[in-house]
Amino acid sequence: MNTTIEIQLNHRSIRKFRDQAISPEVIKTVLKVANQTASSTAAQSFSMIHITCPKKKEAIAEICKQPYVATMPELFIFIVDVYRNARIAMEQGYDLPAKKDMDRFFQGFTDGCIAAQNMVTALESMNFGTVYLGSILNNAEEMIKLLDLPELTFPIVGLGFGYPAEKPALKPRMDLKLKVFENSYQCQENYLEAIKDYDAVMNTYYDLRDESKALPAFSQQIVQRLQNANPLRAALLQVIQKQGFDLNVNASVTQ
Ligand SMILES: Cc1cc2nc3c(=O)[nH]c(=O)nc-3n(C[C@H](O)[C@H](O)[C@H](O)COP(=O)(O)O)c2cc1C
Repeated sequence: MNTTIEIQLNHRSIRKFRDQAISPEVIKTVLKVANQTASSTAAQSFSMIHITCPKKKEAIAEICKQPYVATMPELFIFIVDVYRNARIAMEQGYDLPAKKDMDRFFQGFTDGCIAAQNMVTALESMNFGTVYLGSILNNAEEMIKLLDLPELTFPIVGLGFGYPAEKPALKPRMDLKLKVFENSYQCQENYLEAIKDYDAVMNTYYDLRDESKALPAFSQQIVQRLQNANPLRAALLQVIQKQGFDLNVNASVTQ
């Protein structure tokens, strides 16, 4: 155990923040951390957009359907950014089709995700509270318009942070035996049985979190989430295609 691990094991998302600005030095430091994160083929195919305009924050909150986003002290949107490297090649006279392929897209997507998480760890090490916002993809086309994203870019996730004004109970996680396998994937014979204890633990967690608000068991929440799928989010691939990426869905997957 060391301090880094203690901080990571104490992670909880924060959605209420003090009305207090974060110093530009802190922002500069955590951006340096994001920038130094490992990068697929060192191509650095991601970018970050700092949202400082209150009107834009409001518009993003609207897309997220989460009003607290509008009052977030700091908000960054991580994006896949293949545009920059396509331009770097183009300015040398190369217009190469590979700039559009899904390999490039996923490189940018993973780069952006791990840079965001590195930033989270850095922020949490300084006792700031953070929350990811996958809900920016509730309407990807709107987000793209709002941020003036050029072709070969795509929003990945939002990251809000600030001085925390709440300390929610640590949210329990499913037992590692359901998630860690040796050498090959292991299906469970009966998942409901396997998560029985976790369902019970989660109910206690929700009771602790908000006594007035009874929440269903984890297993029921999973069903609800699948029942309430967002059709716009289910069609994200089309938006990725509109951004100029080639989904190449008919390509052969054997050599
Ligand atoms: C990719 C991703 C997207 C998320 N999107 C949202 C979001 O849109 N809104 C939100 O309030 N929390 C969001 N979260 C936070 C999760 O709800 C949270 O991590 C989860 O409930 C576990 O709680 P904990 O982080 O407090 O342990 C997101 C987390 C991840 C990793």
